[in-house]
Amino acid sequence: MKDKIAVYPGTFDPITNGHYDLIKRGASLFDELIVGIADSQRKGPLFTLDERIDLSARILKDFSNVRVVGFDILLADFATQMRAKVILRGLRAVSDFEYEFQLASMNRHLIPNIETMFLTPAEQFSFISSSLIKEIAMLNGDVSEFAHPIVQQALKDKFAQRD
Ligand code: COA
Repeated sequence: MKDKIAVYPGTFDPITNGHYDLIKRGASLFDELIVGIADSQRKGPLFTLDERIDLSARILKDFSNVRVVGFDILLADFATQMRAKVILRGLRAVSDFEYEFQLASMNRHLIPNIETMFLTPAEQFSFISSSLIKEIAMLNGDVSEFAHPIVQQALKDKFAQRD
């Protein structure tokens, strides 16, 4: 039985090369890494939950110990259901810290038996965010350095539908 399970939660609207970098690092540390895609309706995502799951699953298909699972419940409950010992989060810059500290502290309060661990991405990904990538793609900019070709195509299709 696999015992070192981690959940890497986020909105992944859409998944970026920065997320991928973190998943690659996380997958080498745990027996199983569950990429938890939050419904995050409050964030008004561009892609539906099913689209975000599908994009991520296609991009991550070569990792044998990575599973993509959507959720629309409390992260604390999701991590417990997945039998995770760890919640994995990325820290790109000092500006991420305050929010992440709050999230980790709240989750420790809700689920004291699950630890939050942080990894930093490779430097070239430290300034990437899904919002910036969406904005660049919406204005026909080049996002090939920041997103997988599958995501680039999905962004093109999404913005073409909207025109
Ligand atoms: N590389 C590139 N970008 C990254 C990144 C990385 N390694 N890590 C994070 N980001 C970016 C994301 O693209 C996102 O950018 P955006 O805001 O421009 O879209 C931003 O950083 C933060 O996003 P993300 O890591 O996806 O987190 P989130 O804030 O969207 O989601 C949840 C946080 C899902 C973990 C949190 O909202 C949650 O737990 N939701 C479930 C409900 C719940 O339990 N709420 C109570 C929590 S105590």
